[in-house]
Amino acid sequence: MPDLSADCAGIRSPNPFWLASAPPTNSGEQVMRAFEPGWGGAVWKTLGVDPPVVNVTSRYGSLDIGGQKMAGFNNIELITDRPLADNLREIYEVKKRFPNNAVIASLMVPCERQAWHDIVARVVEAGSDGIELNFGCPHGMSERGMGAAVGQVPDYVKMVTEFVKEKSSIPVLVKLTPNVTDVRHPARAAAAGGADGISLINTINSVMGVDLETLKPKFSVGGKIAHGGYCGPAVKPIAMHMVSQIAADPQTRGIPISGIGGISTWSDAVEFMLLGASSVQLCTAVMHYGFRIISELVSGLEDWMDAKGFSRLEDFIGKSSAHIVDWNELNLRHKTVASIDRSTCIACDLCAIACHDGAHQCIKIGRDRKPRVVAEDCVGCNLCSLVCPVDGCISMKEVKTDLAPLTWKEYSTCLPKPTI
Ligand SMILES: Cc1cc2nc3c(=O)[nH]c(=O)nc-3n(C[C@H](O)[C@H](O)[C@H](O)COP(=O)(O)O)c2cc1C
Ligand code: SF4
Ligand code: SF4
Repeated sequence: MPDLSADCAGIRSPNPFWLASAPPTNSGEQVMRAFEPGWGGAVWKTLGVDPPVVNVTSRYGSLDIGGQKMAGFNNIELITDRPLADNLREIYEVKKRFPNNAVIASLMVPCERQAWHDIVARVVEAGSDGIELNFGCPHGMSERGMGAAVGQVPDYVKMVTEFVKEKSSIPVLVKLTPNVTDVRHPARAAAAGGADGISLINTINSVMGVDLETLKPKFSVGGKIAHGGYCGPAVKPIAMHMVSQIAADPQTRGIPISGIGGISTWSDAVEFMLLGASSVQLCTAVMHYGFRIISELVSGLEDWMDAKGFSRLEDFIGKSSAHIVDWNELNLRHKTVASIDRSTCIACDLCAIACHDGAHQCIKIGRDRKPRVVAEDCVGCNLCSLVCPVDGCISMKEVKTDLAPLTWKEYSTCLPKPTI
């Protein structure tokens, strides 16, 4: 049986699966109910200064894609609306009952040294194993100079991280907002401020849609809506890109990462870990299906590790990072062409139409109504294989050449120099 115990920035948990800071971690009762079936850690719903915030109704909207409910999920909720003392007492109680599980206090207070020192002292005293700085909440709190308003300004990220590190005796994760042009800048600032690790992503700015009957937003607060934070399965590729950027950046390489964004299954989690995450956090999947999904997350990870011969998480964390490179390092001479298995083809025409209108006009339809690829004209773009409804019917075959690999970097050195 592989060992699933995780260590992310010095925060230890029996497995890498943590609940992200969100409604599922809103109270001690919920966190204990999640730890019982096996969640490894919980990042508490973000704590702030009293008096607590006031939330609006309604708060959530969702995008269903092709029958999948909540493929994208949006919220305009704020941080905890419960008194700080209640949350601290419950953190203490959870830690007493579950000493081996990780409890991480997510924090957001105004950008003043004393305010941060005060709350840090209190969550450390309550027994938290780590702290997560919420520099990502994109609505409501950011308009009050907190959350993403900090995460979008690297100088503030560094300054507040330093405030917290001055006082904290436990590891500090900085949770980043994806609502920036280049996430490496706030990540570098967090590292420069002394962060022990980085968690990402928080939610993405979004508006969910307009009702064509009422002409009002699809979900609203009495007919009006503010932009909210988008998450759920639809954001996973964006989150993985950002994780891989931080893992590859020479200025942040090696910093522990807690991966968040669209994780629903054990295999999603493994993908984040292969790109460098040493723990993963889930929110939307738990809001959708409940704490019970932990049994499949754990058994799926165990089975996969067994099949691959990995005995500890460290055996595979970051193993795929080196395969994500800059475009100019790709081999321009690598060539693939589409190949159609005519025996499984159902003659639906989708590939031919896609190639004809959206690619390179190189699929011809035969007399039997089945498609044929004109290999010389195929640029290997993959489009036909992506639209084909029959699994495995179109595969991309590598065409071997005798030519040595050539990257854009190398090719560009032979190009004529610009004259102006
Ligand atoms: C309703 C809701 C409330 C959230 N509240 C918080 C919060 O208080 N603090 C925080 O850091 N992130 C908060 N988040 C963001 C999540 O922790 C997480 O970063 C995001 O949902 C992406 O993960 P997912 O795709 O698994 O949902 C919230 C998300 C949702 C959907
Ligand atoms: S890979 Fe692209 S270019 Fe080639 S046949 Fe398919 S759609 Fe056309
Ligand atoms: S999309 Fe697939 S099934 Fe449909 S015609 Fe093309 S190869 Fe056949």
